[in-house]
Amino acid sequence: MDLNSLKKQISDISSRSKHVFDAASSKPELDDIYRSFLGKKGEVNILLKSLGSLPQDKRKDAGLLLNKLKEELESLYTSTSQTLIALVNSERLAKDSVDVTLPGFQSYKGSLHPVSQTIKEISDFFERMGFDIETGPEAEIDYYNFEALNVPKDHPAKDMHDTFYLSNSGLLRTHTSPVQIRTMEKSEPPHRIICPGKVYRKDSDLTHTPMFHQIEGLVVEKDASFAQLKGLLNDFLEDFFGEKVELRFRPSYFPFTEPSAEADIRWKKNWLEVLGCGMVHPNVLEGVGVDTKEYSGFAFGLGVERMAMLKYDIPDLRAFFENDLRFLKQF
Ligand code: DAH
Repeated sequence: MDLNSLKKQISDISSRSKHVFDAASSKPELDDIYRSFLGKKGEVNILLKSLGSLPQDKRKDAGLLLNKLKEELESLYTSTSQTLIALVNSERLAKDSVDVTLPGFQSYKGSLHPVSQTIKEISDFFERMGFDIETGPEAEIDYYNFEALNVPKDHPAKDMHDTFYLSNSGLLRTHTSPVQIRTMEKSEPPHRIICPGKVYRKDSDLTHTPMFHQIEGLVVEKDASFAQLKGLLNDFLEDFFGEKVELRFRPSYFPFTEPSAEADIRWKKNWLEVLGCGMVHPNVLEGVGVDTKEYSGFAFGLGVERMAMLKYDIPDLRAFFENDLRFLKQF
């Protein structure tokens, strides 16, 4: 080999290397390229080894040229590798960056269902009045749901209730009144209780659902009176609606109370029925061993959904059970 052909090869490597380094798209690829020029078996080393075949007086120049090429390639490697690192970093930054102007994820706070909320509001009032809260089973037997409440077998009043019967001679309670009996059975008077809970009737239309909620109230004391009942209900309704109410008792019939009344309030000019009530029938008290010469009692029962519909101006009963979040979120 002579000096000229070496120079040609050097300039060929020099111009080629720029494109080759430029095309590297990753660090490992770049390192491979580096080795192909400057590694043990790289092109530059091969040329270095061939120096011996040059005439003595040309070797020094050739060595200088090759060293220059080496430096050129080293610096090309360094700058390309810096460019590559910067590129990888900026790509990663772009991918991992957080756009703080994007709208955030909203988490919604849960709230009590309007039925639970209404039960709580009503219970709070009666607790302040010294009432205890009692509960009873939803699967009842005829005795507690009817018989002990002065509704004997085959009594026509049973027809009003559209009862769901269970296979084992049980039934789904049609009202919360059986809790009265269970409470009076297990403890001595006086009693001041309210009993909130689910009740069931074979009934389904715009204003009836097969399951709904009632609150039963019972007071058994030495001188419990009809006047006391009306005064208590008046206070309760004014507390519940947060304004003065006009209350009217209308004679009615329930087997477990005598006399019985339906309570109406004046609502947007019309009289509207809100609950049933009366003096506990002596048959009911005597059935659970309460001495009617010593004690008298009054009771009332109201529908929770109905009260909530009035208070919150909800037109459709079914809204309570559809669980539409847009409805529920308003409470
Ligand atoms: N249990 C009755 C019903 O479901 C409501 C009721 C009326 C309860 C009068 C009472 C009462 O305690 O005295 O329709």
